[in-house]
Amino acid sequence: MKQFVWSIVLAGCLAMPLMADDEIRLPAPQKSGGMTLLEALSQRKTTHRVQGAEPSLQQIANVLWAANGITRPDGKRTAPSAMNRQEIEIAVLTAQGLYEWDEEENELERVETTVDLSDQLRGASMLLIFTYDDEDQSPEYAQVDCGFVGQNVYLYCTTQQWPCVFLGSIDRPKLARALDCKTAEVLYGMRIGVR
Ligand SMILES: Cc1cc2nc3c(=O)[nH]c(=O)nc-3n(C[C@H](O)[C@H](O)[C@H](O)COP(=O)(O)O)c2cc1C
Repeated sequence: MKQFVWSIVLAGCLAMPLMADDEIRLPAPQKSGGMTLLEALSQRKTTHRVQGAEPSLQQIANVLWAANGITRPDGKRTAPSAMNRQEIEIAVLTAQGLYEWDEEENELERVETTVDLSDQLRGASMLLIFTYDDEDQSPEYAQVDCGFVGQNVYLYCTTQQWPCVFLGSIDRPKLARALDCKTAEVLYGMRIGVR
């Protein structure tokens, strides 16, 4: 009986939407299920106007891990990176706020900012913002590395039948102010609508 109650409590926690806490421990990503790679490649597409529900912590954990999660004991990732610099950082904007993903701790850390980002979601569940530190990588390689991360997200979203769009057209100066980085370090964005 005790075990039954705990499993209900745990399931409830994982289905919870993002809270306004400063540090949010994410659940372990789900790494099984979905469709085959060939099916996902066949169905992958861009949806230019993305709409979606508020994402659960599990949904956020899953898409972040697919994007650029750690897969090996030496810290290597789902996406390759030139010279293994692993320079792509991911920030997540939801209706609850702006967070930076710590892939090693599997945590979201809230970004305190006075920048108004309320116009950035446009009905989507989340906006992923891909940045890098220009001391860690050349801009040319960072662009390519970011493309691999974006394709991972496209394929994962396809397996979940979530609409998404990779965005070159983003407000880089505004996002850079919010994330306290250089405008040129903001690479691309991705809007996702979860169901
Ligand atoms: C580097 C890059 C930048 C893009 N920027 C935008 C964008 O700003 N807005 C948008 O609606 N779609 C954007 N897209 C999505 C493309 O329009 C889309 O991939 C293209 O129309 C092909 O459609 P598909 O992804 O369904 O194959 C971008 C795609 C790439 C690769």
